[in-house]
Amino acid sequence: MKTILAINGSPRKKGTTAAMLSEVLSFWKGTARSIHLSDLTIGHCYGCLHCMKHHGVCVQHDDMDKVIDAILAADAVVIGSPNYYYCVSGLLKNMIDRSIAASYRGIGEYTGMEWHGWKPFVGKVCGFVICQAAFGGEKAEGTLLCFADYSGMTHVGTVIASFGGKTLDDFPDYRDEAHTLAQRIQAALQERKQ
Ligand SMILES: Cc1cc2nc3c(=O)[nH]c(=O)nc-3n(C[C@H](O)[C@H](O)[C@H](O)COP(=O)(O)O)c2cc1C
Repeated sequence: MKTILAINGSPRKKGTTAAMLSEVLSFWKGTARSIHLSDLTIGHCYGCLHCMKHHGVCVQHDDMDKVIDAILAADAVVIGSPNYYYCVSGLLKNMIDRSIAASYRGIGEYTGMEWHGWKPFVGKVCGFVICQAAFGGEKAEGTLLCFADYSGMTHVGTVIASFGGKTLDDFPDYRDEAHTLAQRIQAALQERKQ
Protein backbone atom coordinates (compact mmCIF):
# COMPACT_ATOMS: atom_id res chain seq x y z
CA MET A 1 0.00 0.00 0.00
CA LYS A 2 1.49 3.33 -1.05
CA THR A 3 0.90 6.51 0.91
CA ILE A 4 0.11 9.86 -0.65
CA LEU A 5 0.26 13.14 1.24
CA ALA A 6 -1.84 16.07 0.06
CA ILE A 7 -0.58 19.49 1.09
CA ASN A 8 -3.16 22.24 0.78
CA GLY A 9 -1.46 25.62 0.45
CA SER A 10 -4.71 27.56 0.31
CA PRO A 11 -5.82 29.46 3.39
CA ARG A 12 -9.33 28.24 2.53
CA LYS A 13 -10.02 24.70 3.70
CA LYS A 14 -13.17 24.48 1.57
CA GLY A 15 -11.96 26.32 -1.51
CA THR A 16 -11.15 25.18 -5.02
CA THR A 17 -7.67 23.91 -4.11
CA ALA A 18 -9.04 21.74 -1.31
CA ALA A 19 -11.75 20.43 -3.67
CA MET A 20 -9.21 19.50 -6.35
CA LEU A 21 -6.93 17.79 -3.83
CA SER A 22 -9.91 15.77 -2.55
CA GLU A 23 -10.54 14.60 -6.09
CA VAL A 24 -6.93 13.44 -6.44
CA LEU A 25 -7.19 11.53 -3.16
CA SER A 26 -10.55 10.01 -4.12
CA PHE A 27 -8.78 8.12 -6.92
CA TRP A 28 -5.84 7.00 -4.77
CA LYS A 29 -5.52 3.27 -4.18
CA GLY A 30 -3.68 3.22 -0.88
CA THR A 31 -3.31 5.38 2.17
CA ALA A 32 -4.12 9.08 1.84
CA ARG A 33 -3.15 11.79 4.29
CA SER A 34 -3.83 15.53 4.16
CA ILE A 35 -2.27 18.62 5.62
CA HIS A 36 -3.91 22.03 5.50
CA LEU A 37 -1.09 24.50 5.99
CA SER A 38 -3.60 26.98 7.39
CA ASP A 39 -3.98 24.67 10.42
CA LEU A 40 -0.26 24.92 11.17
CA THR A 41 2.12 27.54 12.46
CA ILE A 42 5.04 27.86 10.07
CA GLY A 43 7.14 30.98 10.33
CA HIS A 44 8.98 32.40 7.36
CA CYS A 45 12.60 31.39 6.76
CA TYR A 46 15.06 33.80 8.42
CA GLY A 47 17.76 32.98 5.89
CA CYS A 48 20.22 32.64 8.78
CA LEU A 49 21.59 29.29 7.52
CA HIS A 50 21.69 27.96 11.06
CA CYS A 51 20.24 24.74 9.60
CA MET A 52 23.17 24.43 7.17
CA LYS A 53 25.69 24.61 9.98
CA HIS A 54 23.71 22.50 12.48
CA HIS A 55 22.67 19.32 10.65
CA GLY A 56 19.32 20.64 9.52
CA VAL A 57 18.16 22.02 12.85
CA CYS A 58 16.15 25.24 12.44
CA VAL A 59 16.21 27.99 15.05
CA GLN A 60 12.41 28.10 14.88
CA HIS A 61 10.47 25.44 16.76
CA ASP A 62 7.07 25.42 15.14
CA ASP A 63 5.07 22.98 13.01
CA MET A 64 7.56 22.73 10.15
CA ASP A 65 9.16 19.55 11.53
CA LYS A 66 5.74 17.88 11.37
CA VAL A 67 5.47 18.73 7.68
CA ILE A 68 8.96 17.43 6.90
CA ASP A 69 8.23 14.21 8.80
CA ALA A 70 4.93 13.79 6.94
CA ILE A 71 6.65 14.19 3.57
CA LEU A 72 9.40 11.75 4.57
CA ALA A 73 6.75 9.21 5.61
CA ALA A 74 4.91 9.43 2.27
CA ASP A 75 5.66 7.72 -1.06
CA ALA A 76 4.01 10.49 -3.04
CA VAL A 77 3.06 14.10 -2.47
CA VAL A 78 0.38 16.15 -4.20
CA ILE A 79 0.80 19.84 -3.55
CA GLY A 80 -2.07 22.26 -4.09
CA SER A 81 -1.94 26.02 -4.18
CA PRO A 82 -4.03 28.90 -5.34
CA ASN A 83 -2.24 31.14 -7.80
CA TYR A 84 -1.53 34.38 -5.94
CA TYR A 85 0.03 37.00 -8.20
CA TYR A 86 1.46 34.33 -10.51
CA CYS A 87 3.07 32.47 -7.63
CA VAL A 88 2.10 29.99 -4.94
CA SER A 89 0.37 31.24 -1.79
CA GLY A 90 2.48 32.80 0.97
CA LEU A 91 1.55 29.87 3.22
CA LEU A 92 3.03 27.41 0.77
CA LYS A 93 6.06 29.53 -0.05
CA ASN A 94 6.93 29.66 3.65
CA MET A 95 6.71 25.88 3.81
CA ILE A 96 8.91 25.50 0.74
CA ASP A 97 11.50 27.95 2.06
CA ARG A 98 11.61 26.29 5.46
CA SER A 99 11.99 22.83 3.93
CA ILE A 100 15.58 23.81 3.11
CA ALA A 101 16.50 22.66 6.63
CA ALA A 102 15.79 19.08 5.56
CA SER A 103 18.57 19.40 2.97
CA TYR A 104 21.22 19.47 5.69
CA ARG A 105 20.15 16.43 7.68
CA GLY A 106 22.32 14.07 5.66
CA ILE A 107 19.35 12.10 4.32
CA GLY A 108 18.54 11.30 0.70
CA GLU A 109 21.11 11.94 -2.02
CA TYR A 110 24.17 14.14 -1.61
CA THR A 111 24.39 16.83 -4.28
CA GLY A 112 28.17 17.24 -4.00
CA MET A 113 27.63 20.90 -3.09
CA GLU A 114 28.00 21.89 0.54
CA TRP A 115 25.63 24.83 0.21
CA HIS A 116 22.94 22.66 -1.41
CA GLY A 117 23.46 19.66 0.85
CA TRP A 118 21.27 16.61 0.22
CA LYS A 119 18.11 16.02 -1.76
CA PRO A 120 16.05 14.78 1.18
CA PHE A 121 12.91 13.68 -0.67
CA VAL A 122 14.59 11.66 -3.39
CA GLY A 123 12.54 8.64 -4.48
CA LYS A 124 9.21 10.36 -3.91
CA VAL A 125 6.81 11.13 -6.73
CA CYS A 126 4.91 14.40 -6.80
CA GLY A 127 2.14 16.18 -8.67
CA PHE A 128 0.75 19.69 -8.42
CA VAL A 129 -2.67 21.29 -8.51
CA ILE A 130 -2.82 25.04 -9.08
CA CYS A 131 -6.17 26.80 -8.84
CA GLN A 132 -6.70 30.27 -10.19
CA ALA A 133 -9.22 32.70 -11.56
CA ALA A 134 -7.68 32.89 -15.03
CA PHE A 135 -3.98 33.65 -15.60
CA GLY A 136 -0.42 32.97 -14.50
CA GLY A 137 -0.57 29.44 -13.08
CA GLU A 138 2.41 28.35 -15.20
CA LYS A 139 4.60 30.79 -13.30
CA ALA A 140 3.36 29.43 -9.96
CA GLU A 141 4.19 25.97 -11.27
CA GLY A 142 7.79 27.11 -11.79
CA THR A 143 8.21 27.58 -8.03
CA LEU A 144 6.84 24.11 -7.36
CA LEU A 145 9.07 22.55 -10.03
CA CYS A 146 12.06 24.21 -8.39
CA PHE A 147 11.03 22.75 -5.03
CA ALA A 148 10.64 19.26 -6.52
CA ASP A 149 14.02 19.45 -8.24
CA TYR A 150 15.84 20.92 -5.25
CA SER A 151 14.45 18.32 -2.86
CA GLY A 152 14.77 15.34 -5.21
CA MET A 153 11.14 14.51 -5.95
CA THR A 154 10.09 13.25 -9.38
CA HIS A 155 7.34 15.43 -10.83
CA VAL A 156 4.82 13.61 -13.02
CA GLY A 157 2.11 16.15 -13.70
CA THR A 158 0.40 19.44 -12.96
CA VAL A 159 -3.23 20.44 -13.25
CA ILE A 160 -3.83 24.16 -13.65
CA ALA A 161 -7.51 24.85 -13.13
CA SER A 162 -9.11 28.20 -13.91
CA PHE A 163 -12.33 28.71 -11.98
CA GLY A 164 -13.06 32.36 -12.65
CA GLY A 165 -14.75 32.64 -9.28
CA LYS A 166 -16.88 29.50 -9.79
CA THR A 167 -16.57 26.09 -8.13
CA LEU A 168 -15.50 22.59 -9.14
CA ASP A 169 -19.14 21.61 -9.75
CA ASP A 170 -19.08 23.98 -12.74
CA PHE A 171 -16.02 22.26 -14.25
CA PRO A 172 -16.40 18.47 -14.43
CA ASP A 173 -13.34 18.25 -16.72
CA TYR A 174 -11.10 19.37 -13.87
CA ARG A 175 -12.37 16.40 -11.85
CA ASP A 176 -11.19 14.11 -14.63
CA GLU A 177 -7.82 15.87 -14.72
CA ALA A 178 -7.43 15.40 -10.97
CA HIS A 179 -8.22 11.70 -11.31
CA THR A 180 -5.72 11.35 -14.15
CA LEU A 181 -3.07 13.01 -11.99
CA ALA A 182 -3.70 10.45 -9.23
CA GLN A 183 -3.35 7.65 -11.76
CA ARG A 184 -0.10 9.09 -13.14
CA ILE A 185 1.41 9.33 -9.67
CA GLN A 186 0.30 5.79 -8.90
CA ALA A 187 1.70 4.49 -12.22
CA ALA A 188 5.07 6.18 -11.59
CA LEU A 189 5.35 4.46 -8.21
CA GLN A 190 4.32 1.15 -9.76
CA GLU A 191 7.01 1.43 -12.46
CA ARG A 192 9.65 1.96 -9.76
CA LYS A 193 8.70 -1.33 -8.15
CA GLN A 194 9.29 -3.31 -11.36
C1 LIG B 1 -4.11 37.52 -3.13
C2 LIG B 1 -4.70 36.85 -4.36
C3 LIG B 1 -4.02 36.89 -5.55
C4 LIG B 1 -4.54 36.25 -6.69
N1 LIG B 1 -3.83 36.29 -7.85
C5 LIG B 1 -4.33 35.65 -8.95
C6 LIG B 1 -3.60 35.66 -10.19
O1 LIG B 1 -2.50 36.21 -10.30
N2 LIG B 1 -4.14 35.02 -11.26
C7 LIG B 1 -5.38 34.38 -11.18
O2 LIG B 1 -5.83 33.85 -12.18
N3 LIG B 1 -6.06 34.35 -10.01
C8 LIG B 1 -5.57 34.96 -8.90
N4 LIG B 1 -6.28 34.93 -7.72
C9 LIG B 1 -7.52 34.12 -7.62
C10 LIG B 1 -7.28 32.75 -6.95
O3 LIG B 1 -6.11 32.13 -7.47
C11 LIG B 1 -8.47 31.82 -7.21
O4 LIG B 1 -9.64 32.42 -6.72
C12 LIG B 1 -8.29 30.43 -6.61
O5 LIG B 1 -9.25 29.57 -7.16
C13 LIG B 1 -8.41 30.47 -5.09
O6 LIG B 1 -8.15 29.18 -4.54
P1 LIG B 1 -8.93 28.66 -3.23
O7 LIG B 1 -10.38 28.54 -3.61
O8 LIG B 1 -8.32 27.34 -2.92
O9 LIG B 1 -8.69 29.66 -2.16
C14 LIG B 1 -5.79 35.57 -6.59
C15 LIG B 1 -6.48 35.57 -5.38
C16 LIG B 1 -5.97 36.20 -4.26
C17 LIG B 1 -6.73 36.16 -2.96
